[in-house]
Amino acid sequence: MRKDFGPFPAVFPMPVLIVAAYDKAVVPCAMNAAWGMISDRDQITLFIDEDHKTTQNIRETGAFTVSLADREHMAAADFLGIATGNKMADKFARSGLTAVKSAHVNAPIIPEFPVAMECELQEIIDTDSFHAVIGKVKNTSADECVLGEDGRVDVSRLNALIFDQFHGEYYAAGEKAGKAWNAGKELMP
Ligand SMILES: Cc1cc2nc3c(=O)[nH]c(=O)nc-3n(C[C@H](O)[C@H](O)[C@H](O)COP(=O)(O)O)c2cc1C
Repeated sequence: MRKDFGPFPAVFPMPVLIVAAYDKAVVPCAMNAAWGMISDRDQITLFIDEDHKTTQNIRETGAFTVSLADREHMAAADFLGIATGNKMADKFARSGLTAVKSAHVNAPIIPEFPVAMECELQEIIDTDSFHAVIGKVKNTSADECVLGEDGRVDVSRLNALIFDQFHGEYYAAGEKAGKAWNAGKELMP
């Protein structure tokens, strides 16, 4: 027996991305975004509302960063998703996070989050149903505290938050289940 949920977007896991951008006066703002994904090898696409302060900042400066939220900073990450810079001028300062200008794009890196993509705005696509902000990733940086012995990001050290679209809850990623392009090899002829 299966239960029907109607037209519900049942994708899991969803990321918890922190999108940050300066306004013209170089004041940082950041928001929480679960609707975002890799769209090419050096490209990320976010589905974010036009009227968010962060979206307006991205239009103004043509740049933004996207960080992976972690469990340690869950309260701040969630706050960025419920408060708006349109109504709270000191939203970013209140979050307790810090902003450091990226060396690659005109956007703030938030050092508290260990992994960040530094993006130039490539294109914004407006349709009736969505507003897609496409960023070209100019650089990705990671704090050495999340690097493994092979020099790459070790997700078991990241404690990345995952968004549960079904219940509106956060989970923390951790356990490795297997190796991709490998776990199915035994079924190959
Ligand atoms: C878990 C979570 C996920 C969210 N995902 C998105 C998203 O994908 N797209 C979007 O436009 N807003 C999303 N939001 C809402 C924005 O983060 C929120 O409206 C925020 O206040 C915008 O801030 P700003 O106006 O200061 O930019 C999400 C909020 C939460 C809590």
